[in-house]
Amino acid sequence: MKTELRDYPLTSTIIKLKTGRVQLTIVKEPDWFLDQLSREDNEGRLYLPYWTYLWEASIGLAHHVESIGTDLKDAHILEIGCGFGLTGIVACRMGAKVVFTDVEPDALRFAHHNADQNDVKEKADFIQMDWNTPCFNGKFHYILAADVIYEEHHWEPIVRLLQEYLTPNGIALFSEPNRKNATGFFKLLNDTGFAYQKSTYSVKLEGRMNRVSIYTVRRVNA
Ligand SMILES: C[S@@+](CC[C@H](N)C(=O)[O-])C[C@H]1O[C@@H](n2cnc3c(N)ncnc32)[C@H](O)[C@@H]1O
Repeated sequence: MKTELRDYPLTSTIIKLKTGRVQLTIVKEPDWFLDQLSREDNEGRLYLPYWTYLWEASIGLAHHVESIGTDLKDAHILEIGCGFGLTGIVACRMGAKVVFTDVEPDALRFAHHNADQNDVKEKADFIQMDWNTPCFNGKFHYILAADVIYEEHHWEPIVRLLQEYLTPNGIALFSEPNRKNATGFFKLLNDTGFAYQKSTYSVKLEGRMNRVSIYTVRRVNA
């Protein structure tokens, strides 16, 4: 049966940015859903549906995306692991066309609803996609990725996706909350023909300040 947003206990939050506010409908009791929806993946690993949380990485990336400015006008953007859709919504507001993707259909339903309530739906497409098996016709000027490199087995498929779907001068923006293992991912990027610059943002979420790192990733020979 098709899951609707109303199958979840809902709450809403407002993210304040320089260019305006984004209103998000999110899941009210994400801890409970993390337990209920956890399962084994095809390789027998524990799979946890982290989309039920709004992560500070997406807020940090939203701040960074709005700072890019006019470069985003008419850009074709892919967001992977979009969760509730915050970062892509901000990119749409900056004038980009965004393909929101997530492996979880329910995450996409929230992203779709949130894009709608922030009046950017005409700039947005929503596609269920596993980054292990991506399939698109075109390439993208930007790929947005907030908090998606937390498991080492995500790294190679995500690097392959960059190799295949980023335009030659394209930019991938990764955001992550300074997890220790993340350095391994950026070493892999260096080993596979990419270079990066790092910047940091302070982000407030649920009353706590968090440091988020943003990595701007380009091909070395671009
Ligand atoms: C930690 S959450 C981050 C969500 C959102 N970007 C944020 O920062 O709030 C990771 C996201 O990646 C998605 N995800 C996990 N494995 C995936 C896969 N194999 N392909 C695509 N998305 C995946 C999850 O459903 C979830 O939305």
